[in-house]
Amino acid sequence: MSLSTIIRNIPKAELHLHIEGSLSPELMWRLAKKHSITLPYASVEEIEKAYNFRDLQSFLDIYYAGASVLREEEDFFELMWAYLSKCHEQNIVHTEIMFDPQTHTERGIGFDIFMPGFLKAMAKAEELYGVTSLLIMSFLRHLPEASAFATLEAAKPYFEYITAVGLDSSELGHPPSKFERVFESAKKLGFKIVAHAGEEGPADYIWQAIDILGVNRIDHGVRCLEDDALTQFLKESQLPLTVCPLSNLKLRVVDDMKKHNIVTMLNKGLLVTVNSDDPTYFGGFLNENFEALVDALGIDEATVKTLAANSFKASFMPEEKKRHYIDLIDIV
Ligand code: ADE
Ligand code: ZN
Repeated sequence: MSLSTIIRNIPKAELHLHIEGSLSPELMWRLAKKHSITLPYASVEEIEKAYNFRDLQSFLDIYYAGASVLREEEDFFELMWAYLSKCHEQNIVHTEIMFDPQTHTERGIGFDIFMPGFLKAMAKAEELYGVTSLLIMSFLRHLPEASAFATLEAAKPYFEYITAVGLDSSELGHPPSKFERVFESAKKLGFKIVAHAGEEGPADYIWQAIDILGVNRIDHGVRCLEDDALTQFLKESQLPLTVCPLSNLKLRVVDDMKKHNIVTMLNKGLLVTVNSDDPTYFGGFLNENFEALVDALGIDEATVKTLAANSFKASFMPEEKKRHYIDLIDIV
């Protein structure tokens, strides 16, 4: 069996996926037409051509503008359904999906519009495909603490459908410490905690996510190797890292996939997973991220299987379900 077939066939979990970052240029175009929104692009091809980023901020500007076509419950359903159908196609059997409420509430689109759309698509995917999913509500770190608190309050009617809270958007200048009190409240409410840290920001932001926010997982974290004590801590604690190779390349966190440190992280004993982050913006869903690692770094079958097993270990699934899928990996 070729390595591509193995990548396709093994069961995998995805743990770092922004649903707004799975909006395809075609769907963006169609929803813009539906709502009579004028996009700054003349065609679907022009949208695709605009996906050339200098850094995280240059991506975020386009990503938030793109999300403005999402207006009605049905739009959010379509967005979620398209991603979960892709999961089925790629044999992603479980996914932990981030959504950015403030991107929508700031435009007057409330929880009562996007949550039913998301939840209906998630229920349908479980019923039809057996793909399980859960939600991670992410706070935008470029906005004030008060806005994050207001978001937590607005989410109240939907708490039972949200497993974790996270932190994303512009990292530099917005350290985890800015949100200490919000995450303390979220933790008391029983949410799991994740945070983007060490993508563009320094290793110190990873320490802050651990020490101040009390994270269960770090999103990205690729700059951890700059700090030996942190690397040692991550190894001993087996605190998971959700690494996103194509994202790192597109946002110029690395200038060449051959220089990506994911294999070094694995060799140092860290609990590393592969994820797509914002797949329609970065040129590939989960399997394409695995393929990119095979092409650039020559990762072998055993490493692919370790990464797939890690995706279950690092997930928020019940232990017996983790075991079930990890056992299946060895059969492929
Ligand atoms: N929001 C969507 N993708 C992101 C990323 N890679 N980093 C920070 N915020 C994001
Ligand atoms: Zn991300």
